[in-house]
Amino acid sequence: MVFRVKSVRGELFALLTLAVTFVVATVILNSPVDGGPGVYLNAVETPKLGPSPSSSIYLMAALAAIVALLVSWKVHGSKLGTGLFAIHDDEDVAEVMGVPTFRYKLVAFAMSCALAGLAGGIHALFVSYVTAGETFNITVPLTVVLMSVLGGTRHWAGPAVGAAAITALLYAFTAGDHAVAGKAAVGAILVLVILFLPNGILGVVLKKRKGVALAPSPLPQAGEGAKAEAPRAPSVVTGKPLLEVHGLSKAFKGVQALDKVSLQVRQGEILGLLGPNGSGKSTFINVVSGHYPLSGGEIVFDGKPLTGLPAHRIAHAGIARTYQIPRPFKHMTVLQNVAMVGMFGGASLPRAQATREAWKWLEFTGLQDRAHALPDDINLHQRKFLELARALAARPRLVLLDEVLSGLTPGEINEAIALIRRIRDRAPPSSSSST
Ligand SMILES: Nc1ncnc2c1ncn2[C@@H]1O[C@H](COP(=O)(O)OP(=O)(O)O)[C@@H](O)[C@H]1O
Ligand SMILES: [Mg+2]
Repeated sequence: MVFRVKSVRGELFALLTLAVTFVVATVILNSPVDGGPGVYLNAVETPKLGPSPSSSIYLMAALAAIVALLVSWKVHGSKLGTGLFAIHDDEDVAEVMGVPTFRYKLVAFAMSCALAGLAGGIHALFVSYVTAGETFNITVPLTVVLMSVLGGTRHWAGPAVGAAAITALLYAFTAGDHAVAGKAAVGAILVLVILFLPNGILGVVLKKRKGVALAPSPLPQAGEGAKAEAPRAPSVVTGKPLLEVHGLSKAFKGVQALDKVSLQVRQGEILGLLGPNGSGKSTFINVVSGHYPLSGGEIVFDGKPLTGLPAHRIAHAGIARTYQIPRPFKHMTVLQNVAMVGMFGGASLPRAQATREAWKWLEFTGLQDRAHALPDDINLHQRKFLELARALAARPRLVLLDEVLSGLTPGEINEAIALIRRIRDRAPPSSSSST
């Protein structure tokens, strides 16, 4: 497990987590559970839920399964679930779009551990014997991973479907030589599923039924609220600086990509950064948006220092960006990509409102007909405009556009220039900068 640490507070937190893990590991290592003969639990009484101890254990296991499914269903439809799907697709981009990735991963680990602990407690009562050797060998985690992959990892019911299939298979081959055959079958299924069914059984079934990829949320249709607002009167450059960068430096080992860059972007201003390939334009955007930590200098946004803040806090402050090479979340539809930023970016909208606004931005950028397509199924021009729609969905005060016109035809470039002017003219407090 790797946590990317981006702030002093995050560092302290990571150290604390490591320390706690170390203490817990030491306690476990020193107990007779690990390495020793194990612990018999005969003296532990089974809670009386049913007429007999075995029926009680069965009821507890059924209850744990229902609780796990409920948690999975709840997380799947929640903001946490959407953030986790985004982290799965591209963690760096998720952070820049406003997902507090460190916290979300920690919550996911904590919830998974709680459920595993609950299941382990019941299993310990069932076998009335606890030992680390057998529990932590490769078979258990492998079977659990296979259950999720086989059923479908992007649907809340996927692991349950996979668990039913694998359990039935293993029980069908319990005796003698068959046990080995069962294990071999599990291995073969794992390989085949990874190769041919990356979305699992439920992925295939639901795709056939809906004709769309698995969605973290229901997909509303275009309709009310989907009309693009008419551009407002052009805003004036008010003169108040929105972004102030002083002496910004960034070095990649030997390469000094930015050397003491200072500039100002004022409200209502469209500022272009010009330079040949490799002159540091993308690096500037990467550093200001928090994608890379800076090596020196200071960034002030609307009078508040941003230096050293994690990328999701910079997004919440009102800075949105596009990527020179589009980096959409690959397993989310075009609409979900945009709505997700509405939920996590500076606007922090509830899902329904973020989806309504996403339709508006898709219409604004001419992508409404491709709303239910996956990013891999649209062309480069459309992917660039998806980047733009995503940046706008955050309701940013400053948009950093990284070569949004490169690779486009002259006709598409004219369209894009008109669009950037329309963005600037939409809301007086917003401002754009492009490279
Ligand atoms: N992640 C990285 N690791 C190492 N060097 C990098 C990285 N990103 C950019 N650079 C280097 O920094 C310089 C500026 O690159 P970049 O900002 O992409 O330029 P531009 O966008 O103006 O074409 C280049 O020399 C490039 O090789
Ligand atoms: Mg570049």
